[in-house]
Amino acid sequence: MATTAVGVSAVPMTAAEDEQQQKLKKGIAEFYDESSGMWENIWGEHMHHGFYNTDDVVQLSDHRSAQIRMIEQSLAFASVPDDADKKPRTIVDVGCGIGGSSRYLARKYGAECHGITLSPVQAERAQALAAAQGLADKVSFQVADALNQPFPDGKFDLVWSMESGEHMPDKLKFVSELVRVAAPGATIIIVTWCHRDLSPDEKSLRPEEEKILNKICSSFYLPAWCSTADYVKLLESLSLQDIKAADWSANVAPFWPAVIKTALSWKGITSLLRSGWKSIRGAMVMPLMIEGFKKDVIKFSIITCKKPE
Ligand SMILES: C[S@@+](CC[C@H](N)C(=O)[O-])C[C@H]1O[C@@H](n2cnc3c(N)ncnc32)[C@H](O)[C@@H]1O
Repeated sequence: MATTAVGVSAVPMTAAEDEQQQKLKKGIAEFYDESSGMWENIWGEHMHHGFYNTDDVVQLSDHRSAQIRMIEQSLAFASVPDDADKKPRTIVDVGCGIGGSSRYLARKYGAECHGITLSPVQAERAQALAAAQGLADKVSFQVADALNQPFPDGKFDLVWSMESGEHMPDKLKFVSELVRVAAPGATIIIVTWCHRDLSPDEKSLRPEEEKILNKICSSFYLPAWCSTADYVKLLESLSLQDIKAADWSANVAPFWPAVIKTALSWKGITSLLRSGWKSIRGAMVMPLMIEGFKKDVIKFSIITCKKPE
């Protein structure tokens, strides 16, 4: 089940596939409803990896700035302009968590930003943080499905998906929706977990690699994974421009050891116990993320492109 969910949304879903997707969505919503408070309490408002320079000596206090660096590196990689007449004015944050990226981007560009998440708890918390930070007129959050976004065609000039793509059961539908809501000339940024690219003579990952990914899937509510090359092919098939991809696995290496260290602290253990079984089960597979990166089966990827004018 772990490899390659590039999806074929042109073919109607069977009732069984539909049921499986609804079950996955419910699991994702409950997982984040349950665990987001604990994450915020320990790690703050960004629910994504930090970006570390590979020669950094990491201090615990560096992790939050590494998460901001992840946002900045992603914007720089995609060449999102800063100048007043070209900077993004309307942004969608697809899979927004508790809205850390939305608020950062709204502040940085003076833009209007809309975040969507499957988790009602996250949407409510994201909105409360926006109000507390004086951004209530700039950002808004709602519960909505990335595969069926509640926005008109061509609305946004920056389409942002930070570590949500791995949850999407139909990658073609996911990418098609990102493209649909993008305005002509808009930048699309996808930062996501992938499996390694397959070599030309491979049809799938090796069984031992599949085994690692499958265990991660069931605890983190992920469907089948795809590769970075699969994303690039999808974007090419949709005639996107300036398609670029990079493997940032080495730049995120300090992240999971740090998360595990905090989970094993007194505050981490008590927070985990308080938040519930789904969070505990998630914590238990965290060492497999380290193993997956070490064995080169997991890749931390950025894929960016522009919608033609
Ligand atoms: C790891 S969190 C990332 C949060 C945020 N992007 C950040 O960087 O802080 C994954 C997010 O993806 C959202 N998500 C997963 N599947 C989704 C879907 N089908 N539609 C909308 N959001 C989804 C989850 O609700 C969660 O908010």
